[in-house]
Amino acid sequence: MGRTNRAAMAAVAFVCIGLSLTGCKQHQSALVKETSIPTVVQKNGHYALMVDGAPFLMLGVQANNSSNYPSALPQVWPALDQIGANTLEIPVAWEQVEPQEGQFDFSWLDTLLSQARQHDKRLVLLWFGAYKNTGPSYAPQWVQTNKARFPKLINAQGKPLGVLSPHSPALLEADKTAFVAFMTHLKAADPERTVILVQVENEVGTYKSVRDYSPEAQKLFDGPVPDMLAKGLGKAPGTWKVVFGKDADESFHAWSFAHYVEEVAKVGKAVYPLPMYVNVALRDPNKEQDPLTYASGGPTWNVLDIYHLTAPSIFTAAPDIYGHDYVGNSGQIRQYTRPNNPLMVVEIGSSTDLARYFYAVLGNGGLGFAPFGLDLTGYSNYPLGAKTVDAPALEIFARNFKLVSPLMREWAKLAYESKVYGVAEPDDHSAQTIALGKWQAKIQYQQWQFGLPEWNLIKDKNDIPEGTASPSGGVSIAQLGPDEYLVIGYHARATFALSDAASKEMVYQHVEEGHYKDGKWIMDRVWNGDEIDYGLNFTQPRVLRVKLTAY
Ligand code: DGJ
Repeated sequence: MGRTNRAAMAAVAFVCIGLSLTGCKQHQSALVKETSIPTVVQKNGHYALMVDGAPFLMLGVQANNSSNYPSALPQVWPALDQIGANTLEIPVAWEQVEPQEGQFDFSWLDTLLSQARQHDKRLVLLWFGAYKNTGPSYAPQWVQTNKARFPKLINAQGKPLGVLSPHSPALLEADKTAFVAFMTHLKAADPERTVILVQVENEVGTYKSVRDYSPEAQKLFDGPVPDMLAKGLGKAPGTWKVVFGKDADESFHAWSFAHYVEEVAKVGKAVYPLPMYVNVALRDPNKEQDPLTYASGGPTWNVLDIYHLTAPSIFTAAPDIYGHDYVGNSGQIRQYTRPNNPLMVVEIGSSTDLARYFYAVLGNGGLGFAPFGLDLTGYSNYPLGAKTVDAPALEIFARNFKLVSPLMREWAKLAYESKVYGVAEPDDHSAQTIALGKWQAKIQYQQWQFGLPEWNLIKDKNDIPEGTASPSGGVSIAQLGPDEYLVIGYHARATFALSDAASKEMVYQHVEEGHYKDGKWIMDRVWNGDEIDYGLNFTQPRVLRVKLTAY
């Protein structure tokens, strides 16, 4: 239970002592009504996920796929506590809640809700419906095995693939029915708003076929592009081939899935309007790629506008980041941070090299960050993620989350109302410059806390601070005032300077190390002398407030 709810329920208990049962119930429902439904808001291109009426930063963990049973939960919560996560992302699978058609069982959801409250965690529920990593593995058996009623997608050679056709009205109807039942149950079972987001399907798209070539799909493909889509993209009306040219097949498939997802999300939101999103099996962010080599039709960056126009019930497409190279991962962060697509990293590999992207995600106004598979069930998705999920694997994610956890509300508010910046360490440890307007910050890595690299006092290139041999650093900066910044970081040095150093000189007017408690900044000490003469060194994870003066 969140702090607000706990306080509210404590107040109810107190008031109820002196009331009749009816009066007490009325009072309780009045209080429950006050708990606002989470929502995503946008102002001047900045986004916030509002939870309990205030901006919230999701410090998440996604459980392993098969951790969605009560027996696994005792191995899930301790990992969240060790990391300092405030949110668990976990599947609610169609096969689990509707094993026989029309017979629903939401006992899993009830167990999950009650344990999440006991453990003081929020939930993001992943609706594993007809599509999981593009395949139907989480659809109930009565769906998977009834080929006549739920046809498969047909490839260009006329062969069925192991993927359900998004053009099957029967499939869409059945998925919608189950999703509505799920959202109806959730609405009734969660007046406390333990659940803050719902993911609709999991990694839609199709490997090994650019689109569906079934007769139903072909008929639509030969027809006109929906007016709303052509207009929204600023294109003249026409068939898919005329409007999209060489990209017609993939664009059509993106529309097919966006339409499917929209239909499911729309009916669910009509029942209970929680914010909903889709996750993405990614393609190369930096260059063209043959759609036969990735999940075509999924919300890859090249078709994001088709998704946003076709699926307005979905507020963002959230990348699943599993690459290990800096240029690729920075490219994904860039592609999924758009005025119409707030960044939210709902899956990132659990290997330690990916932890540092947390700082870049915060700096791009990310609504959340969730390493995948960090539970203690004994399963690991190596070589995508960590080889074993144990204390050392959790440690580096924990350091970052524990640094930000006490100020997550303040950070989320600053990202919404002010300006934020952030970088992760490049693979080659090279320095970066963050442009802040009047000011700039140079970020360096593998530096000791004292001295300048150009002194050349250290001859051994392996003589670097412990733990920095592999890239692990990052810095995030939020603007507090014209010359004042909140700076957080780890394994990095940040040196501030005037962007135009020619006209004036500068000093660090005041550097405070401190922490936030109950929304208030508590100053622990002032940094001066050696601690600021060579930049601000984040050998340990630190939170600083930095005031600069130009003279
Ligand atoms: C991305 C999917 O969304 C996850 O459910 C999982 O299958 C990972 N890939 C791989 O572990």
